[in-house]
Amino acid sequence: MIQRTFVMVKPDGVQRKLAGEIIGRFERRGLRLAGMKMLRVSRELAEAHYAAHKGKPFFGELVDFITSGPVVAMVWEGEDAVLLVRNMMGALKPAEAQPGSIRGDFTASIQMNVVHGSSDPAAADEEVALWFSEDELV
Ligand code: CMP
Repeated sequence: MIQRTFVMVKPDGVQRKLAGEIIGRFERRGLRLAGMKMLRVSRELAEAHYAAHKGKPFFGELVDFITSGPVVAMVWEGEDAVLLVRNMMGALKPAEAQPGSIRGDFTASIQMNVVHGSSDPAAADEEVALWFSEDELV
């Protein structure tokens, strides 16, 4: 099934100049870029995006981190794009992120993990709608 998923290069990924590397991986894999913008994330948007984590001990740190510098927000489209992107990103726990995945190649931190991708199709729909208006998508 053709799906759209939300992907974000986080502030550490932008600062480390990994945005091109990450975008290139999704392009070379064959996904279609349906929307992209660089922005500084407001606390309001960060808290809405991470609403599912509200109340967890790391929530405050997570919002501080994601608002700490510019991010690149994107929508990628393709066959089973949600799971495909998750697999390309690699596991959340650094030791479980396989070499060859984005996290497995570039991060050893559970928080500063360079990239976010929607966890499932319902989250993808919500996140695409939260971050992009229809006229920003092609
Ligand atoms: P992300 O895919 O953006 O979704 C939720 C984020 O919370 C996750 O990536 C991590 O950056 C962060 N996160 C999850 N668990 C922890 C944790 N135990 N400590 C710090 N950050 C976490």
